[in-house]
Amino acid sequence: MAGVRCSTGGTARGGSQFLPHQPDRQRDQQRRSDRFQTLKHRVTQGHDHFDHQEGEPLLASLTPLGHYSECRSGYCGACKTKLISGEVRYLTPPMAYTRSGEILPCCCTPISDLELAPTAQD
Ligand code: FES
Repeated sequence: MAGVRCSTGGTARGGSQFLPHQPDRQRDQQRRSDRFQTLKHRVTQGHDHFDHQEGEPLLASLTPLGHYSECRSGYCGACKTKLISGEVRYLTPPMAYTRSGEILPCCCTPISDLELAPTAQD
C-alpha cells in the first residue's frame, strides 16, 4: 500500500505512523530521543558479553556482573575501568582522577561497541 504524504513531509500508513504537525526543533528533539532509545552497543569484558543501551550509565549493566562501585556519580573513582577499545560519552563530568584509557562507568555511556579490561574474576 502506498504511503500518504502529509503536510509536514511525514508518511502515514494505515493511520498508525502519522505524525501531527510539530515545529522543526521539537521534531528534531524527538528524533534524537528515539535514536538514543534504540541504539544498543555490544560490550565485552573478559568472558562476559552484553548489549547496552546508549544513554544509560554503563554501570547499570556492569553491576549485575559484580562490578564494584560506591558514589555512582563520578566522585570516588571506585568504579574505574580500563577501556581497551571503543568510545564513551560522559553523561556528567567525571570528578575522580582517571589515567589515559580509564573510564568511570557510573557516569558514562557507550557510543560504540566497547571492549573493557577483564576483571580479576575473569
Ligand atoms: S562509583 Fe564513584 S566514581 Fe564511579
